Amino acid sequence: IAALSVGAAWADYPEKPVTIVVPFAAGGPTDKVARDLAEALRKPLNATIVIENVGGAGGTLGATKVSKASPDGYTLLLHHIGMATSPSLYRNLQYKTLDDFEYLGLINEVPMTIISRPTLPANSYAELAKWIDGNKGKINLANAGLGSASHLCGLLYQSTLKTDMTTVPYKGTGPAMTDLIGGQVDIMCDQTTNTTSQIESGKVKAFAVTTPKRLGGGLAKLPTLEEAGLKGFNVTIWHGLYAPKGTPKPVLEKINAALKTALKDADFHKREEALGAVIVTDARVNPADHKKFVEAEINKWGPVIKAAGQYAD
Ligand code: MLT
Repeated sequence: IAALSVGAAWADYPEKPVTIVVPFAAGGPTDKVARDLAEALRKPLNATIVIENVGGAGGTLGATKVSKASPDGYTLLLHHIGMATSPSLYRNLQYKTLDDFEYLGLINEVPMTIISRPTLPANSYAELAKWIDGNKGKINLANAGLGSASHLCGLLYQSTLKTDMTTVPYKGTGPAMTDLIGGQVDIMCDQTTNTTSQIESGKVKAFAVTTPKRLGGGLAKLPTLEEAGLKGFNVTIWHGLYAPKGTPKPVLEKINAALKTALKDADFHKREEALGAVIVTDARVNPADHKKFVEAEINKWGPVIKAAGQYAD
């Protein structure tokens, strides 16, 4: 009877708005994916969805908040590859990535682009490489803080080029983009979900993509970094949905089912694909595969980050 009444207590979920915490500033790539997903998720979940931006410390502040939130299905986290890089980057992370969350499913994969302020005097990747060479010690690289996707990509880019740039951290690449367009910083590596429209409208210059294959659409002319001579360079960002550990199983099952439906939504697909993102296949939208994937990513990036000598308290 006790088990029955506990089950029944969750039968009416959701009874109030569901908050999705975005661990970066509004107007950036994670925010974009979250707001697009919220649109597609509203109907299958039968709930109002509120986006809460909790930026700072490369996404770890927002993740900490959700790890400590009430496990009732009303506070969720949408996060990216930073879930897997932060355990190697932060010595005093306030949560255990694999133990303190319920994994709800992967969402998408997104390429990145190397972009610059519009006034940077280079118009091809070869010219950018020459400019970087000639300006050693003077280049500002914007990112969304230690543990962010832009940080990870910038880190690999610098180590592959054997160049040190001055990193300028923001609470997300939304505000970083504003400064890049304004010319306050020189270069950024950011996801196509944030850069496509700025590249297409000529507000920033774009030089290369970070994935092994060229992109389609308006960005097809950009070479891959591999083509540009940076052998093996490959950074692909992924996003997933999480709940605090201990969220009741019937609630998790409802959210997962709604997520699966949302990820098949034709409008969501159209919006994401126009920005270079690829929705994951249905088989990857489940807790077990999501968690296994994050664990593999932790093991993949740990040695890279260690070799780069990066960490924070
Ligand atoms: C990042 O670099 O991690 C992202 O661009 C974060 C964001 O959504 O701003």
